[in-house]
Amino acid sequence: MRVRTLQPDDRFRLESLLSASVNFTAEEVGTALEVIDEALEGDPDYLVNVLETDDAEVAGFECHGPVPLTIGTFDLYWIAVDPRVQNRGFGRVLLRAAENDVRSREGRLLLIETSSQPGYAATIGFYERNGYALEARIRDFYRVGDDKLIFAKSLVPGVD
Ligand SMILES: CC(C)(COP(=O)(O)OP(=O)(O)OC[C@H]1O[C@@H](n2cnc3c(N)ncnc32)[C@H](O)[C@@H]1OP(=O)(O)O)[C@@H](O)C(=O)NCCC(=O)NCCS
Repeated sequence: MRVRTLQPDDRFRLESLLSASVNFTAEEVGTALEVIDEALEGDPDYLVNVLETDDAEVAGFECHGPVPLTIGTFDLYWIAVDPRVQNRGFGRVLLRAAENDVRSREGRLLLIETSSQPGYAATIGFYERNGYALEARIRDFYRVGDDKLIFAKSLVPGVD
């Protein structure tokens, strides 16, 4: 497998990958595609890596970027792996790629926002096991009963 930067030909594949994820609504898929289009147009606020398997199939992607008006804080906006090939370590590889890219840009803090809905329990476990700690909870943010959770990881240079 290899991780590489996004290319225009990836868009169609990423659309079907996002649509296949039970976690994402049609609106969220649309928002993710807008971000992918921004990245393809060269917007430096949206940095996208894709993971390609040995048979050259794009199996997942991640999108991160610097948070405006901060020094060294980045957001992980999206991470998704094709449901057919989850639990094989691809998500971890993508997360590491994002972290290494943030470090290479002198980033020091990576934040991930997610929902408190039960459907995100596995995703939250994935973040926690990759070193992210719950930093904040905004109750009823998305809708009543659906909190926004903000996870954070301090990225010290040279430490995995
Ligand atoms: C969250 C997500 C990106 C993780 O991707 P993934 O490829 O399944 O992640 P990994 O395989 O690296 O890790 C998942 C689990 O597989 C296990 N695993 C990793 N490599 C493995 C291997 N070779 N064999 C068996 N299990 C393995 C890990 O232990 C890990 O378990 P844990 O989460 O309990 O620690 C993926 O589940 C996803 O796309 N979810 C839907 C979209 C989503 O919610 N995105 C986040 C909001 S933007």
